[in-house]
Amino acid sequence: QVMKYIESCPSTQIIAHKLAQEGTADGTVVLTETQTAGRGRLARKWDSAPQKGIWMSIILRPDVVPQKAPQFTLVAAVAVVRAIEEVTGLKPEIKWPNDILINGKKCTGILTELQSDADGIQALIIGIGLNANQEVEDFSPEIQEIASSLKMASGKEVNRQELVRALLFHIEQFTNIYIEQGFAIIKLMWESYSSTIGQPIRARMAKETLVGIAEGITDDGVLQLRTADGKLHGIYSADIEM
Ligand code: BTN
Repeated sequence: QVMKYIESCPSTQIIAHKLAQEGTADGTVVLTETQTAGRGRLARKWDSAPQKGIWMSIILRPDVVPQKAPQFTLVAAVAVVRAIEEVTGLKPEIKWPNDILINGKKCTGILTELQSDADGIQALIIGIGLNANQEVEDFSPEIQEIASSLKMASGKEVNRQELVRALLFHIEQFTNIYIEQGFAIIKLMWESYSSTIGQPIRARMAKETLVGIAEGITDDGVLQLRTADGKLHGIYSADIEM
């Protein structure tokens, strides 16, 4: 397995895209101590305090048809929850599609990007930002109310090496389950860890906002939202408020 460790970089996603273009192997991991331009979903920035978290990108080259790609974000979310549980004993929850929360505050974000050309999808770049040992003042003021770290939640410093090992182990395990046995098992685990399913939510999308009950996810990883008029809506991309 190719492992690339870098002291500091703008974003592990950028490096991973470059490696993928150069033909790096399936399972390549890029890991850094700090990012100067960490990026989140929806063109947001991602705080990546030096030595405090796990900032990594994983390159997957699954032989997948395009419609199978979005599920990998959910596969990664389940793996992150397992790893955190195992190493810290904390009980994280998943907020659709990719936020991992502890006590309602975000401690991990996942960003899945595709690299494709005329021949189709060449690689999936799964970026994971896990807040491990930050104190509240390590976060930018505007996210101090909504962000958390494993250390803030447990009161204990976390061993980042142990976490990285657990993360990679579970990502490989769940990726294989998904590829070999389909999405059903992952979906069940994801739903059992989810704080979204069964709850009234507000889904803010680019063009509209829908309010209703989150009923579950489909085999394609699409969130199912039932509005008061009884209609079922498929949510592909949104900010969820609960
Ligand atoms: C989100 O919740 O918006 C996703 C955040 C993803 C952050 C990680 S940190 C490692 C990788 N490199 C980046 O620039 N972003 C992802």
